[in-house]
Amino acid sequence: MSSQIDHLLEENREFTPSPEFAANANGTAELYERAAADREGFWAEQARELLHWHKPFTQTLDWSNPPFAKWFDDGEISVAYNCLDRHVEAGNGDRTAIIFEGEPGDERRISYAELTAEVKKAANALESLGIGHGDRVAIYMPMIPEAAIAMLACARVGAIHSVVFGGFSADSLRSRVDDAAARLVITADGGYRKGRVSALKPAVDMALADRGHGPQETVEHVLVVKRGGNDVEWTEGRDLWWHDVVEAAPAEHEAKAFPAENPLYILYTSGTTGKPKGVVHSSGGYLTQAVFTNKYTLDIHPETDIFWCTADIGWVTGHTYVVYGPLALGATVMMYEGTPDTPHPGRFWELIQKYGITILYTAPTAIRSFMKSGRQIPQQFDLSSLRLLGSVGEPINPEAWMWYREVIGADKTPIVDTWWQTETGATMISPMPGVTATKPGAAQVPVPGITVDVVDENGEPVDNGNGGLLVVTSPWPSMLRGVWGDPERFKETYWAKFADKGYYFAGDGARKDEDGEIWLLGRVDDVMNVAGHRLSTTEIESALVAHESVAEAAVVGAVDEMTGKAVVAFVIIKESYLSQHAPEGLAGQLRLWVGEQIGPIARPRDIYIVSELPKTRSGKIMRRLLRDVADGHEVGDTTTLADTAVMSIISAQVK
Ligand code: WT7
Repeated sequence: MSSQIDHLLEENREFTPSPEFAANANGTAELYERAAADREGFWAEQARELLHWHKPFTQTLDWSNPPFAKWFDDGEISVAYNCLDRHVEAGNGDRTAIIFEGEPGDERRISYAELTAEVKKAANALESLGIGHGDRVAIYMPMIPEAAIAMLACARVGAIHSVVFGGFSADSLRSRVDDAAARLVITADGGYRKGRVSALKPAVDMALADRGHGPQETVEHVLVVKRGGNDVEWTEGRDLWWHDVVEAAPAEHEAKAFPAENPLYILYTSGTTGKPKGVVHSSGGYLTQAVFTNKYTLDIHPETDIFWCTADIGWVTGHTYVVYGPLALGATVMMYEGTPDTPHPGRFWELIQKYGITILYTAPTAIRSFMKSGRQIPQQFDLSSLRLLGSVGEPINPEAWMWYREVIGADKTPIVDTWWQTETGATMISPMPGVTATKPGAAQVPVPGITVDVVDENGEPVDNGNGGLLVVTSPWPSMLRGVWGDPERFKETYWAKFADKGYYFAGDGARKDEDGEIWLLGRVDDVMNVAGHRLSTTEIESALVAHESVAEAAVVGAVDEMTGKAVVAFVIIKESYLSQHAPEGLAGQLRLWVGEQIGPIARPRDIYIVSELPKTRSGKIMRRLLRDVADGHEVGDTTTLADTAVMSIISAQVK
């Protein structure tokens, strides 16, 4: 099969940065020139300029044993010192590090001095439990400051954390604890979600019970933060309250440095098949690109900005853009515990108004759900503090991008659509605000110092105007260093496809536009072959979202006798539209609309109007399950869905 992906959608809008924004932006065009002239030298310069090295490095990249990269290998660094102590030593101890708001409305402001003190105590507490260099610690927590404190405390003692998203089941926790052979689990009694306490400790108890199934018992202690006020079952000798152990710990703790390649964390990512992979990230290289992209891609000015990345710490976005990147930069970050619609659908906008958030970084799935409930909700709040918006996690449809800009960004804030992955550790492709003229729906250009291409099946670059496979063509500082315990799987999954070229294959389709800029087309597994044309789901979905009635769309290829695959669309209609129009005939209109927008080949055979779409817990649409519905098959494995009931609702609506 050819890897060429046909390109159908025309999108010609462009927004040049305002002179005011450009004048104050951290990023300049010159960064691209410097990086292009000497890529490795550029990263060495960034690593030295943006971070403190206990022992300076003399080597930049060691790529002598690909795909196992080493960056800044002979240097020594303390990630925790870079995120904490050095800001206090520089006289910024009073600056707020974390603004926290719980779902019930409780507030905390934690200064850099306070955060440093808390992490020192937590680090002493970990050491008192025998946790040190190289030990694995599982963190299973709600979005509360202690989650960040726990991560930083692990980093401080050289332990490797594995954050497991608090919405995952006991089984998922168990398999992750087992795979990494964690010695300690840090959790909470519960956290607030959708107006009530969602318990966490019982899942830990379940994950650790009946250990006959696991390889061997490795967990010695469970450290429990009191948050939800629930009564918890207690295993004497194993379970300890965080407040007992951490409060009793000494306040002084010296930040020791570790080699740059010391693993900082493992983060499990499921992918489409097989058991989750433990993606391993390093210390020095990871932190370099994390802090670099926070400074230049997200344009954070630590003295004045209040930055809110809405991701949970259970995802890589929460690691790089809630904890490590912004804190290494000395910025003020917002942390919100709950869901965007609790206790009312304007909660996000209320928080932006209340805290004067200046930069908002969120996901297309959230933006589309805001579109669904309507602009009158954000319009009730003062969002004038916002000066930059970001998007991450999925392709953002041009109309969702426009809505984000107009309704949330007062038709003037730049938007950065950032493409990256758990595996890449930090942003790889994104406009640079103040420099790049942005195009709605495109991630556009690699970050300075990053090289990517769109290639065909043989690894040859496609021409401008064509689609193919997105690859990263040279190693980058925050790249994954491996899959925990499985070097073969690391090679096979990411490097085997273009082994002769040494390219990293990410699994995404993309196209180059006439300017050579990059548009993401979704996972290649989702590409469908319709009558010999390889169509991306993303472009047809974007055409649907461009219709005034549609808030969200998912397109799949269903088996078709005539065409091989036929386009089948599932759409969610905007509430504002439904309140004024009858839905009859809408599906027919939408078919014609897609035909007009991008051509008859893309016109869906069937369009189903539904109230929900199946999504993973991180908000990505699971098209595989919709394919089952479209083909009339029994719906496959739904265990990774955020809400397993959704598929029966959709199946009923389709019938
Ligand atoms: C996959 C990685 C990036 C951290 C959060 C998700 C998709 C991510 C974009 C974007 C188009 C995007 C890709 C990628 N993706 N950002 N801006 N435009 N697609 O991390 O769970 O590892 O998912 O998310 O398909 O491969 P992840």
